[in-house]
Amino acid sequence: MALPRQVNIVEVGPRDGLQDEKTAVEVGTKAALIEKLAAAGIGRMEAGSFVSPKWVPQMAGTDELFNLLPQHSRTAYIALTPNLTGLQRALDCGARNVGFFVAASESFNRNNLNSTIAETLKRFASMMQVAEQHSLSVRGYVSCVVACPYEGDISPAATAAVATQLLDLGCNEISLCDTLGVGNPNSISRMLEAAMQNIPLEKISLHQHDTYGQALVNIHTALQMGVSTFDSSVAGLGGCPYARGAAGNVATEDLVCMLDGLGIQHGIELEKLVEAGQFICKKLGRKNGSKVALAIAANSQH
Ligand code: HMG
Ligand code: MG
Repeated sequence: MALPRQVNIVEVGPRDGLQDEKTAVEVGTKAALIEKLAAAGIGRMEAGSFVSPKWVPQMAGTDELFNLLPQHSRTAYIALTPNLTGLQRALDCGARNVGFFVAASESFNRNNLNSTIAETLKRFASMMQVAEQHSLSVRGYVSCVVACPYEGDISPAATAAVATQLLDLGCNEISLCDTLGVGNPNSISRMLEAAMQNIPLEKISLHQHDTYGQALVNIHTALQMGVSTFDSSVAGLGGCPYARGAAGNVATEDLVCMLDGLGIQHGIELEKLVEAGQFICKKLGRKNGSKVALAIAANSQH
């Protein structure tokens, strides 16, 4: 199949990227990062999550953060919501785009959401009614699409079944998440093939963590299969508190660079993106996880 001419990037840095950071990040810093990412041309971005602050302390200030974000931005801000309490908090802050997340693995789901997959999906059905009343856009996420930290390999059929249930509930996009970053072109293509039986190609997004350095080659495999939406994180930040050892998401800078090389449009200015990544890495006191950002930063010093 010919590669897509245009790709949508969903930036996940301010949520997935920051949720597991050891350094506490002030709300003002998060807002500044989001502003820089929007200025770089990011069209859709996870800005935060309305989860229990006892479970994920880094996301505690999301209400305050949403109130700081510009009201009339061209960028859509996505808020992850695990239950009705979270959805109500999102509505109270004026969020228009929310994310419902569940796993293809029973053990991961219990660890991440303290409920079974069936209980979680049942909860989402009630939440979807509220979302529909308020005309919210709902993105569905399936974690552990190829492997789980507790159960090992997850079958393509198990992932496809959960993804299909999210679609049937009314999610308008399904993000298929390699939470552990252990997928390879073989496992990812088999998983996508199964998901594509029921989910229209244009509704699929691939969310790659990059623990084993296979994220870009997996994305290229997905591009060859016609997938045209990808989740990525500035500076390669990211991780899930309930998937110990997993690395950050594929770096947005590295993804943008690969797409440029392939002549695929994405609407993002690489230099401004690199600036945003350098900004947050400096605040966090950590090395930039994007090879492209490091190369560009090194060249600009000469
Ligand atoms: P629970 O303990 O079963 O919840 O946790 P509960 O309903 O029994 O409530 C316990 C307390 O939490 C109560 O307060 C509630 O009010 C409060 P208390 O009476 O003890 O003072 N509470 C809340 N407070 C604020 N906001 C809320 C909320 N809900 C309850 N929304 C719960 C269940 C779902 C809340 C918990 O398990 C949770 O928050 N889990 C989220 C974990 C998380 O955020 N994980 C990371 C995001 S997913 C991810 O990163 C994967 C992804 O990137 C894809 C991939 O890569 O795989 C998306
Ligand atoms: Mg993730």
